Amino acid sequence: MSGPLLDHIAVACTVLEDVLPLYTEGLGLRLLGVEAVPTEGVRVAMLDLGGGARLELLEPTTETASIMGFLARRGPGLHHIALRVADIEAALAQAQAAGLEIIPPAPRPGAGGSRVAFVHPKTLQGVLLELVQPGAGVHGDAPPAGPAAGGTL
Ligand code: CO
Repeated sequence: MSGPLLDHIAVACTVLEDVLPLYTEGLGLRLLGVEAVPTEGVRVAMLDLGGGARLELLEPTTETASIMGFLARRGPGLHHIALRVADIEAALAQAQAAGLEIIPPAPRPGAGGSRVAFVHPKTLQGVLLELVQPGAGVHGDAPPAGPAAGGTL
């Protein structure tokens, strides 16, 4: 069995329009799309990092978004990294056996039919890590059909 692959790196920002050109025009990354995710209180811009990996820029759209707390405490910057796994139950069991705390304890639905869970940063030396089991049809190196689909930019 192969190990996990990089799925995305997420960056918290305060104003998406200010940051996006730095990555597209400044660094030449291709914008895959922008989508509002009302359930998380964020707007997400997805950029192609190649090899099926993406850079996710997260902007809060409500005062109660969980990312607001992060921005208030630490300001804009790296928020989490996400690894793609084939079997999220097996990955969580392996992580928990090694002492990592999973939040929430069971995977929850993510974009594009995926299932996701996070490793609490207090058990991973300050790193918030997301585990993603892709939904059917969005696995592999094809352009992601999840949150980027139907973007407005
Ligand atoms: Co993520």
